[in-house]
Amino acid sequence: MADYTGKVAFITGGASGAGFGQATVFAQAGCRIVIADVRRAAIEEAATKLRHQGAEVHGIELDVTDRAAYARAADEVERVFGKPPELLFNTAGVNSFGPLEKSTYDDFDWIMGVDLGGVVNGMVTFVPRMIAAGRGGYIVTTSSMGGFFGSPAASIYSAAKAAVINLMESYHLSLAKYGIRVSVLCPANIRTNIAEATRLRPAHFANTGYVENEDLVRSLRGIHAHGLDPVVLAQRTKEAMEAGQLYIIPYPEEKEHLAQHFKQIVDAVLPMEADPEGARQRAEALRNWVKERQSLMSKSKGDEAKRD
Ligand SMILES: NC(=O)c1ccc[n+]([C@@H]2O[C@H](COP(=O)([O-])OP(=O)(O)OC[C@H]3O[C@@H](n4cnc5c(N)ncnc54)[C@H](O)[C@@H]3O)[C@@H](O)[C@H]2O)c1
Repeated sequence: MADYTGKVAFITGGASGAGFGQATVFAQAGCRIVIADVRRAAIEEAATKLRHQGAEVHGIELDVTDRAAYARAADEVERVFGKPPELLFNTAGVNSFGPLEKSTYDDFDWIMGVDLGGVVNGMVTFVPRMIAAGRGGYIVTTSSMGGFFGSPAASIYSAAKAAVINLMESYHLSLAKYGIRVSVLCPANIRTNIAEATRLRPAHFANTGYVENEDLVRSLRGIHAHGLDPVVLAQRTKEAMEAGQLYIIPYPEEKEHLAQHFKQIVDAVLPMEADPEGARQRAEALRNWVKERQSLMSKSKGDEAKRD
């Protein structure tokens, strides 16, 4: 079991749902919690609940799409706790449903901006600070089961979540050498308030091709009422983090669906016999290129060190 005592956990979207579940579980484990959320009143409410359970909580009003505000939030954490966070949870997210062919630029810009752009901002803001602090750490980004599959109605959301999965695979490979572990959480249904997300759509992204009304919110609420408890999800997440898992998918019922999907992809690969010599040459060219780049990079690092 990892020691979380006194560690700072920065949780975007921490005022509700999955993020609040993470705040609850990691506060119980001994972390000091930063709730970063776009809704001020919800932050206060969440922080009060956590404090009643004995947690140390600091709230920051933050729109994850605002890069300057994100940098100020990171400075605030260092001012308050004397260090950058050891744990970063990129959890904030929004969703909206409608036919892909009717999607507007505003639909794309809003959903991609929060669900992918917000994650990018979290990583670009905090990764260099976590590396400089030299204490290692843990980053968990919430994607979605939707990130594995195209969808006619949640298309933009699914595309953003697919990009997040891929990006976390790359960060996982890139940050291991700094002792920073990276996981990507891919939930199916969670019992949260995400049905209300359309209410958070900013006025400058108002032009939508979807029907966003109270009926939709009500019907989505009905679906999410059957979702996994966010605290249970956070507990499963913590166990998977401690086991060093890159992918966190605590939904056994999804296994068959994933297996069929990836089988379809694997089956689409041409058999080697088509051009074995060509395939061998392509693989060798790539290996040589990677080796050459690695040696160039370590040479330029050596030169920099000599200059310093
Ligand atoms: N609920 C589900 O069934 C489900 C399934 C798969 C993945 N997810 C993902 O889980 C994550 C958490 O969502 P949830 O289901 O707990 O929903 P939720 O609405 O209960 O919580 C999301 C929180 O993010 C905040 N937020 C939204 N936009 C923000 C912004 N621009 N900046 C900062 N904070 C912002 C909201 O205020 C809210 O407190 C999301 O990334 C979502 O895509 C949810």
